[in-house]
Formats: sequence, C-alpha cells, structure tokens
Amino acid sequence: MLNRPVLVVDFGAQYAQLIARRIREAQVYSEIVPNSMTADEMLAKEPTAIILSGGPASVLEDGAPSVDPKIFEVGVPVLGISYGFQAMAKALGGKVQQTAKSENRQVPVRVLTSDSALLGADGDQEVWVTHGDAVVEAPSGFTVTAESDDFKIAAFEDEARKLYGVQWRPEEPKTKFGQEQIDRFLRDAAGIQSRWTPTSIIDDQVKKIREQIGSARVICGLSGGVDSSVAAALVHKAVGDQLTCIFVDHGLLRAGEREQVERDYAASMGIRVVSVDESDRFLDALAGVTEPEQKRKIIGREFIRSFEAAQRALVEEAGRAGEEIKFLVQGTLYPDVVESAGADGTANIKSHHNVGGLPEDLKFELVEPLRELFKDEVRAIGRELGVPASIVNRQPFPGPGLGIRLIGEITRERLEILRAADLIVREELTKAGMDEVIWQCPVVLLADVRSVGVTGDKRTYGHPIVLRPVISEDAMSADWARLPYDVLDTISTKITDNVEEVNRVVLDVTRKPPGTIEWE
Ligand code: XMP
Repeated sequence: MLNRPVLVVDFGAQYAQLIARRIREAQVYSEIVPNSMTADEMLAKEPTAIILSGGPASVLEDGAPSVDPKIFEVGVPVLGISYGFQAMAKALGGKVQQTAKSENRQVPVRVLTSDSALLGADGDQEVWVTHGDAVVEAPSGFTVTAESDDFKIAAFEDEARKLYGVQWRPEEPKTKFGQEQIDRFLRDAAGIQSRWTPTSIIDDQVKKIREQIGSARVICGLSGGVDSSVAAALVHKAVGDQLTCIFVDHGLLRAGEREQVERDYAASMGIRVVSVDESDRFLDALAGVTEPEQKRKIIGREFIRSFEAAQRALVEEAGRAGEEIKFLVQGTLYPDVVESAGADGTANIKSHHNVGGLPEDLKFELVEPLRELFKDEVRAIGRELGVPASIVNRQPFPGPGLGIRLIGEITRERLEILRAADLIVREELTKAGMDEVIWQCPVVLLADVRSVGVTGDKRTYGHPIVLRPVISEDAMSADWARLPYDVLDTISTKITDNVEEVNRVVLDVTRKPPGTIEWE
C-alpha cells in the first residue's frame, strides 16, 4: 500500500520536517505527527517505521515530552534521533545525563561494529550533534555501536527488536553519511520498499480527485507560481474540462509572466484559463500609497474583489449550461499543514503574509491535491505532468509582486523601470547557471533615492537598483548568495547600459535575520 507512512514524531524546533523530507528523498512516504499523539493513535496509522525527532527540550526536565514504551513493543522498527534517542533510552530503562557541552558542533565518532544495519560499513565518521544531554547507560538488550570522546554511547541498537538510536542528527547535511543512515534504516532495518515516486503520487492523487469531484465543475486561481500551476495540472489530468482556472493580472507582474501562464502553460497543456486584466483597478487603488503594509492590504483586498468578480462570471456561465461549480482547488503544501499544527499538536497558525489569499467565505468545497507534498515533490510531479520548465523551476515570487519591490509610490513608469532591470537580472542569472544555486533574487528599485553619476560626458541623476540574491532552505533564514564577480559585473553593466533611469547597481549583503529577504 502506497500510503502506509513512516511516522516522524515531532519534538519541536522544526527538525521533524527535515527528517520527513529525507525519508521522502528515499522515495518512502512519511508523515509528521505531534508528540502529544498517543501510542494507540500512532499505531492505528499502521506505520512501517517510526522516527523520533530531535528537539530543544531535555528529558531531565520535569514535563519534558516523553515516549510511550508501547511503540517499542509491537515490532515496528524505531529510530531515535538526538532528543528522540535520549527519550527512547529513558523510556526503555536506560540513563541520561547532562554534559557540559551543548553547542552545535561536528563530532568525530568511532564505529564499534561492522555489522550494524544502520551504520553499514561507513566506519568512523564526522557527525553533527546539537544536544548536550548524553545517554550514559543503554537499556538492557541494546548494543553500543558508536562512541566519541564526549559520548561513550553515541549510538545503540537492539537488532532483534529493530530499535536504533543515534546521538547525532543524520538528517543534517553536516553528518557525513546521514542520508545513507536514513536510507539503510528504512530499507535494511525496516525492510521498506521505495514506492513514493512522482508517477505513483500522480496516480494516487488522480484517483482521489476523481472520487472527490465526480462530474461537478471546479475552479482554480492561478498565480503563475509552481504550486497553483501543478495543483491545476493534477486536477486537469483527473477531470479534464470540468476545470477552469482564473488568472488575475494585477499589473505588478514581472516581464513575460502573463504570457507564460496564458501561452506556455494554458495553451500547451490544454487547460482553460480565464485571465482578467485588472491592472487599472490595482494601480488606481495604490496611487499615492508608500507604506508597505498598506500596500499589501490594498493588493490583498483588490485581489479578492477581482477574483470574486471572475468567479461570479464563471458561476453564471455554468448556470446557463445547467451546471454548478462546487469545488475550488488550492495549492496548500505539506509544510503549511504541519506548521499550523505545531509540535505538541496545538494550533499555531502561520502568521506569514497571506496576500494573494482567497476570500474566506467562498461557498466551495476545497480540493487540495498537494496537501501531502513537499515543494521538491511538487516540482517533480509538475515535470512529470508536462508543466513548462519556466514555471516548475520558478523561484518564489511574493503575491503582492513588484508592488513590494518598488520602494515608495507605485506608478506605471516606475514599474516599467523595475521590470526592465528585473528581466536582465533573471536572464543573466539563468545564463550563468545560478538558478540552481540561489533561492530567489529580489530586484528592488529605490525610486525615491537619487544619486549622481556620469554617462559619456553627461552628468546623470538617477535611481539605484538593489540586487538581493539569497540562498535558503525554506525562507525562514537566509544568507546572501556569493555570486561570481563576473556575473555581477555583467548584470550591473547591462542594467546601467539599458535602463536609462538607473545609474547605480548595489548588492545587498545582509543575512536573514536580521534583514528579511524582501525589502518591504
Ligand atoms: P521575507 O521578506 O519575510 O520573505 O524574508 C520570506 C519569503 O516570503 C516571500 N514574501 C511574500 N510572499 N506575500 C507572499 O506571498 C507577501 O506579502 C510576501 N512577503 C514576502 C518572500 O519573497 C520570501 O520568499
């Protein structure tokens, strides 16, 4: 069965998400569950294995999250990681003590056996440790399989019961053979086969979507981004022409984006897209507004109005044909689902900007075909479904678009300047092969600032453009991308040569935190 999960028990600090992704990378389905879930509830999901994640607490503190020993008694293979390792040791009668060191660090470990299903034949290695507590006495039945100077028990296992634990974090790239350890735990120790492939995910989802939608009509709002495009492509594969997409052009798009949706996506994939040009409505409402949150509010409000108008027209059209639109597709991803649940299972609603969000009182039932997927899986499925590469590989672009990359007032003229510079940056980054390296590269126009320059023998007084290339895993934190000087030089020269109003190009070298990725 495709959907029997490997459960990742979440002990906080977002470690669980990375573990769940690594399991998916091994083409095995994983699900994150809160540590407040009871053993019976976990076992009711018929997990093929359980991984206990790391976490910031200490098992030595009162009230620290614990593990119900029942999960170790039913023959399900379990791997405890870091805090999960210590909680596992404690639950099974071992001993845990605090050590003096608790900072994150690379630790050399000596592997004490050559026949561990988990550690394989990789031998001594560097691992990444983030927890200062140490298991000092293994529970009975366990063999110590690795040690270091600080951790006499750096890893243990009970081969007969398929129970494994490591002090380190195998999901972290800084652990040399981490992914191999996760692969081996799943394959060799737990005997799980790799079945979670793009083709099987698509087949599974198409079946589910058909069951949900039946013969009704369905609509989907497209943003031009990966998630909504892939969600719509999946639904289209499942129910064909029952789907109509709505694309609102708010006038704050980058060069070529509307064509990308209308021509490259809709026409090539045979999906019906109704696009509405609402740029006048947005730009009129934004006239004179400079404050970022105010801009976001106006864009959000006008987006909902535009979407509702387009949707009403489609409902009427369906009504004339004696049909009804019952469903709305949304590109919700797994991290959004997990983040709004939280490690202990209590609600922790994401406070992130939600511009481009749809009205809350829509009278449609939601279809969310990406709810179980991580972004890289969405991309893989998109490729398999034939969604154009320009969309599948697109970097994140905020809902309010260029509206929050144009510092100061938004006008048509200023938007044109920013669009021209942004297009040069995107083209040059692609040419230089940087799309794989960077997470995104906002291009920001400081339209209220001027600086003196010289072109030929003429003095200029133009605007600066800021480049903000960043690398990141999830946009929560980021580092500035060390782009090669020659790439920066080409971008800078092309912008100042071709975009008349810009006479200076500057590079933003601020990490996040403290700087956010966007400037507004
Ligand atoms: P910040 O600027 O908060 O951005 O570091 C983190 C990520 O979120 C994107 N972003 C937005 N996305 N509406 C969106 O849909 C917004 O208002 C918004 N503001 C920032 C940003 O591009 C980055 O990927």
